[in-house]
Amino acid sequence: MNDPALEPQIYILDTGGQYTHLIARKVRELGVYAEVVASETPVARIARARGLVISGGPSSVYEAGSPTIDGALLEADLPVLGICYGQQLMAHRLDGTVAKGVKGEYGLAYLDIAGSSPLFKDVANHQQVWMSHRDTVTEPPAGFVVLASTDTCAVAAIGNEAKRQYGVQFHPEVVHTTEGMKILRNFVFSICGCWEDWEPASRIPVVEQQIRETAGDRNVFFFVSGGVDSTVAYTLCLRALGEARVHGAYVDTGLMREGETEFVRGIFASLGARHFRIEGAQEQFLGALSGVTEPERKRKIIGEKFVEIQEAVLESGPYLDGHWILGQGTIYPDTIESGGTAKADLIKTHHNRVAGIQKLIDAKRIVEPLASFYKDEVREIGRELGLPAEFLDRHPFPGPGLGIRCLGAERDEPVEAITGGWIAPVHSVGVQGDSRSYRPVLIVDHLDHGRATEAINANQRVNRVIGIVGLHLPVERMSVVASGISPERMARLREADAEVRRLSAEAGFEAQVWQFPVVLIPLGGEGRPDSVVLRPIHSVDGMTAQSVAMPEELLGQMRDTLLAIPGVAAVFYDLTHKPPGTIEWE
Ligand code: XMP
Repeated sequence: MNDPALEPQIYILDTGGQYTHLIARKVRELGVYAEVVASETPVARIARARGLVISGGPSSVYEAGSPTIDGALLEADLPVLGICYGQQLMAHRLDGTVAKGVKGEYGLAYLDIAGSSPLFKDVANHQQVWMSHRDTVTEPPAGFVVLASTDTCAVAAIGNEAKRQYGVQFHPEVVHTTEGMKILRNFVFSICGCWEDWEPASRIPVVEQQIRETAGDRNVFFFVSGGVDSTVAYTLCLRALGEARVHGAYVDTGLMREGETEFVRGIFASLGARHFRIEGAQEQFLGALSGVTEPERKRKIIGEKFVEIQEAVLESGPYLDGHWILGQGTIYPDTIESGGTAKADLIKTHHNRVAGIQKLIDAKRIVEPLASFYKDEVREIGRELGLPAEFLDRHPFPGPGLGIRCLGAERDEPVEAITGGWIAPVHSVGVQGDSRSYRPVLIVDHLDHGRATEAINANQRVNRVIGIVGLHLPVERMSVVASGISPERMARLREADAEVRRLSAEAGFEAQVWQFPVVLIPLGGEGRPDSVVLRPIHSVDGMTAQSVAMPEELLGQMRDTLLAIPGVAAVFYDLTHKPPGTIEWE
């Protein structure tokens, strides 16, 4: 098939919002190819699209330097939908009035639709929507009418039918907006006149052709993580070039979950990857991490070890000569240079670049077959390629592995009793606004999320709250035990993690949560130095997360199984949402 790269029918103009990619994903779910670009992108570059969506974002249109759009954009004959900040920006640019909010509105609201508009065709007159904003439009621009309102937001949707320009204060892309997909569908098909042109699995032949063109007569080398993206990218290269031309390595850091290395070996064997090696580096990693407790140092050491080992692997073969290029499992959200988002910075801290790899990237000697796909699209492609569902549907797992779930402490310290619980001096990472915190944890003797949230709001000393699931000894007799990462503690964590995974898979609970970290903390006593913390969460993209409750029977099984592991003094349940806690404890 000689299909040129697809041209987007819809562009999402990114103003830095956390839901920008979700908008593009939802449009693609409708079968319409959409891409994300910086909000200031010149209109000439995007004018061939059928329509534009301006995303939400955290700024206020009155702040200096806040994201804006090309002045000509609202004059071009293109349908536009502004969402949240996007609506405010549109109104502001067209001389409507935007009022600065003080408190803002976050959460569910009920939308009342006035009159009829193609945007709300077949949408119920009264329906649930998701709001997350501070400022609001108070006076629509000339030519616009108010299309909908809520109890607290008089201008919840506006439209200028003649110019096909619309704005909504709520978030149609978020699942809590019950009829959000209908609204996006109306915009994309009825208002913009798009047609269905996007089905990820049907792109496989095009992607394979692109791989052949990029590679030319060169071969491809991959470092795989055992995750979905690098494995699907590898599979596509195998199909496109044949097994003799695609080599790969997997670094076993010793920080992996139980059975992981065997699992990866099995997957690659079943793919027929003959030039695939497993580089055992457990001792190097555990040696370098011995006794280390500080989270950023742990990450740095793990990153540096990766670099060292990958470099050695690259140098052990012909891979740095001109006949090889590097294959990578980069997916769409990692590739975008969009204005105003901090995402690029964040990604940099996650990826330590090997000098040899950097050289290949600088020389453009790379192939990234998945660079235009989202995660769920990669899964769809993987399914089409015949990869097993139990592999494709696995929870996300961080690169530094169990290393960031094995917490340490600098010195022995007792727990402190306070009204309503105890403060344990185990420090973990959290988020507050845009910055990270590193604080002790509050222990409470219940598993009530509501009360836990109140407790954490009332206590600025802590960034997390955990409830007691089961104990070998009373909390007041426990203390924090000075410890770092050791083979013994890693083995303890690995066993706890494997038991939790086994039980939650058997109970069908694993499929109900987005991720389920199991954390080892150095809190114990009477010959049992550690405790296990359960952290099942719901999330969309890991940016925010909610701690979720689990069925009582399953929790009981986990408690009994975990308390039977030698060295485990107690089992706790992390009741903290993100923010103020992060998903990982670090
Ligand atoms: P936090 O702890 O920041 O995690 O709330 C958000 C999501 O990111 C994952 N995570 C990582 N993934 N390399 C990764 O590939 C990393 O270094 C890393 N650190 C955190 C985490 O598991 C969660 O899904």
